[in-house]
Amino acid sequence: MKNFNIALIPGDGIGVEVINEGVKVLKFIEKLDDNLSFSFETFPWGCEYYLETGKMMDEDGIDKLKGFDAVYLGAVGYPGVPDHISLRDLLIRIRREFDLYVNLRPITLLNEELTPFKDKREEDIDFLVIRENSEGEYSGAGEWLYRGKPEEVVLQTGVFSRKGTERIIRYAYEEARKQAKTLTSVSKGNALNYSMVFWDEVFEEVGKEYPDVKTYSYLVDAASLYFVSDPGRFEIVVTSNLFGDILTDIGAGITGGLGLATGANINPEKKYPSMFEPVHGSAPDIAGEGIANPLAAIWSISQMMDYFEEEEWGEKILESIIAILKNKEFLPRDLGGSASTSEVGDYFVELLEIK
Ligand SMILES: NC(=O)c1ccc[n+]([C@@H]2O[C@H](COP(=O)([O-])OP(=O)(O)OC[C@H]3O[C@@H](n4cnc5c(N)ncnc54)[C@H](O)[C@@H]3O)[C@@H](O)[C@H]2O)c1
Repeated sequence: MKNFNIALIPGDGIGVEVINEGVKVLKFIEKLDDNLSFSFETFPWGCEYYLETGKMMDEDGIDKLKGFDAVYLGAVGYPGVPDHISLRDLLIRIRREFDLYVNLRPITLLNEELTPFKDKREEDIDFLVIRENSEGEYSGAGEWLYRGKPEEVVLQTGVFSRKGTERIIRYAYEEARKQAKTLTSVSKGNALNYSMVFWDEVFEEVGKEYPDVKTYSYLVDAASLYFVSDPGRFEIVVTSNLFGDILTDIGAGITGGLGLATGANINPEKKYPSMFEPVHGSAPDIAGEGIANPLAAIWSISQMMDYFEEEEWGEKILESIIAILKNKEFLPRDLGGSASTSEVGDYFVELLEIK
């Protein structure tokens, strides 16, 4: 019997609502599989916690999370707390301190009716974005000089270390080799004359060790166009923190929206717990109404199962999402249905049992 210890950080807004459904799925898996069990501890961190305590998470929060096998996060951010505080002091802090340097964001069309394109089928949009998740444009380095004065200057520094750049690119090459897929690097060397020229050089350098992997290299502006005009050309994509963040929202837009976009924050060495979360935020505009789509959060449970080397469950969860999308009986509002968040979750576990 394998037991996995999972830290739950539901966070803010719809984060709490969608995480409930993900936990429902985990508890159901436990019921169906005699060899698996999960234990949970919930941490009340987020914006409400900040308003009460002045902190997004406990001072020793990182130590508290260290012993878990995985962290399952809803979303953080809410009106009343500046976004740069809520995001940096919780989400980005965990990514950084646990060295979760790989962000895996699948861009997969699970049902052709979900894409705005008339002529695209499931097989035309199916790729994986591997986003650098620990430094780059989100390193938090910079200066704010002469605040409020006419000579005010703000510097936001992108940090691209050799270690950080090489390891994410190497991870992507390994993944491309393992899956026998092409690898596309997205950068912007023509304008960012230090960081992205360096990125391109490292991509080429590491690539010498992988002559079997066919590669492409695009500027981020061209890549954004191709994400929309010709997504079929991508199989595995590797890119920086900021570019990956933006490109994967385009990816969500062409595959059914934010309610269906998932992301895994991975420490490949397993030195620290990895973190699983839907890509979307706390959606204050619909929070508390019970209408949020929980499928992105459930998809991240599929990624968690893969990470636990329980790939069969990972696959079953994905198949059940595909089934929900196909039979349309219990679609959430953002996908054109009228099912509530918990109705989608309840129906989901029924499907999981049949699978
Ligand atoms: N990973 C995170 O924790 C994360 C990510 C993005 C934004 N945020 C934070 O969330 C807050 C709101 O940000 P935002 O409005 O830009 O982005 P958002 O993702 O919360 O919402 C954008 C739009 O998508 C809709 N939406 C998002 N997820 C949905 C779901 N599961 N089901 C149905 N509709 C869904 C929302 O209703 C909204 O109209 C901000 O404080 C922001 O900083 C957090």
